[in-house]
Amino acid sequence: DGFSATRLFNQGFSYTYDDVIFLPHYIDFPTDAVDLTTKLSRNLDLSIPCVASPMDTVSESSMAVAMAALGGISILHYNNLPSEQAALLRSAKSRRIPFVSDPVVKSPSDFISSSSAFDASPCVFVTASGTAKSKLLGVVSRSDWESLSDRHDAPLSDYMTKVPVTASSRYSFEQAAGIIAAKKIDYLPLVSEAGGELVDLVTASDVERIRGFPKLGLPSLGRDGEFLVGAAVGTREQDKERLEHLVKAGADVVVLDSSQGNSIYQIDMIKYVKRTYPELDVIGGNVVTAYQAENLIKAGVDGLRVGMGSGSICTTQEVCAVGRGQATAVYKVASIAERSGVPVIADGGIANSGHIVKALVLGASTVMMGSFLAGSNEAPGAYTYEGGRRVKKYRGMGSLEAMTKGSDARYLGDKSKLKIAQGVVGAVADKGSVLKFIPYTMQAVKQGFQDLGASSLQSAHDLLRSNVLRLEVRTGAAQTEGGVHDLVYYEKKSF
Ligand code: XMP
Repeated sequence: DGFSATRLFNQGFSYTYDDVIFLPHYIDFPTDAVDLTTKLSRNLDLSIPCVASPMDTVSESSMAVAMAALGGISILHYNNLPSEQAALLRSAKSRRIPFVSDPVVKSPSDFISSSSAFDASPCVFVTASGTAKSKLLGVVSRSDWESLSDRHDAPLSDYMTKVPVTASSRYSFEQAAGIIAAKKIDYLPLVSEAGGELVDLVTASDVERIRGFPKLGLPSLGRDGEFLVGAAVGTREQDKERLEHLVKAGADVVVLDSSQGNSIYQIDMIKYVKRTYPELDVIGGNVVTAYQAENLIKAGVDGLRVGMGSGSICTTQEVCAVGRGQATAVYKVASIAERSGVPVIADGGIANSGHIVKALVLGASTVMMGSFLAGSNEAPGAYTYEGGRRVKKYRGMGSLEAMTKGSDARYLGDKSKLKIAQGVVGAVADKGSVLKFIPYTMQAVKQGFQDLGASSLQSAHDLLRSNVLRLEVRTGAAQTEGGVHDLVYYEKKSF
């Protein structure tokens, strides 16, 4: 019944995720028996197959710590100076808790003239330099400040609490939460063990918020024992200097970022990375064909990023007439990469958990997501309102706006002077915290695997290659039928 993948994907059509559907197989294990552990690249293991895309509206420090805490990984974008990208990396690597806090910090000679200083934080920290990452000298709570009544021009050093309860920034979230509960305190500053510098803040409301989310599984940790964090670089000469910054800052993996990765520039860069930093995994791409993949595998890549024009903000296929339907691309590249033991990242076009199941079963080891994560609390930028909906900005790295900021290397030939956009600027709906919706999404993926009788990614790949799993192409009407239809109204809520 149905078609084998080999037959379905060799008929001359370019299929995307929505075009294809798996036929159910046989269930002989519970959902929770599905194991989603995987590999990002030859030498890096993840406990969930999720990667945040190197885009400036997706992956900075907050996304990096949250994704690593969940067992996935973020690839930090490079639409910034090398020193700025390295600072984002260091910031993520310095943390053990699953979020980046934003404590209000002042210097001892500052004063607080209005209670608005406490609007965003239960207290104001006093450090030697008046900024975070400087020695913590004291703390002023709202009640300390209020008890001063008419002396609000007094310097903070006059009335700050000098020896607040602190904990080491090496403490895990659970350890910090334990201290907050045991000491019945509202907030706990986390300080560096060496210099007592303020690193983070955990509040009682953070504890309540995180406890309300599904329990975290195994975090992704690098060889250094810190959160696993990747970074993107280009393939120009000056990217070698960027790479050096990133390696010094502790990058666990680099992604060579190009929309058409099968180029002399990328092949030279892969060889350079492997020669200069033999310990560092390098991911190449993007590719969509077996030919492109073979070239990069020969050059020595440790992982392949697959997708051209499948991203929600991409206009590459319209502008350049080049690309491939993402289901076909993932299947074709994975078929080749698997023979060399090179894991494949299915990049772009993920809009729901079903797309993740399709990408993984068709041969990918992980999925890379932009729009799926861009509306989260952890994505950079603030929420705004659009037609009554809370949204966050999301833009293609090949959009004119992003290229103006510097990301033109990916989408322009080196000497091109005229900028042509291959992406758009838009907005996506507020989705809350990735710490909540990614675990739910993974549970949905496990249910898909269970329906297919696949208890792991390896088992799914084996069932597909041995033609046990069967697929079909969905007609336009079948796709409509497969979605919600014929309702006057419905509420789109799945957890
Ligand atoms: P999703 O669908 O997850 O896609 O939003 C994210 C992926 O899209 C790619 N990307 C672009 N592709 N023009 C393109 O053609 C762009 O401006 C652009 N920006 C990002 C990239 O592979 C990303 O991971």
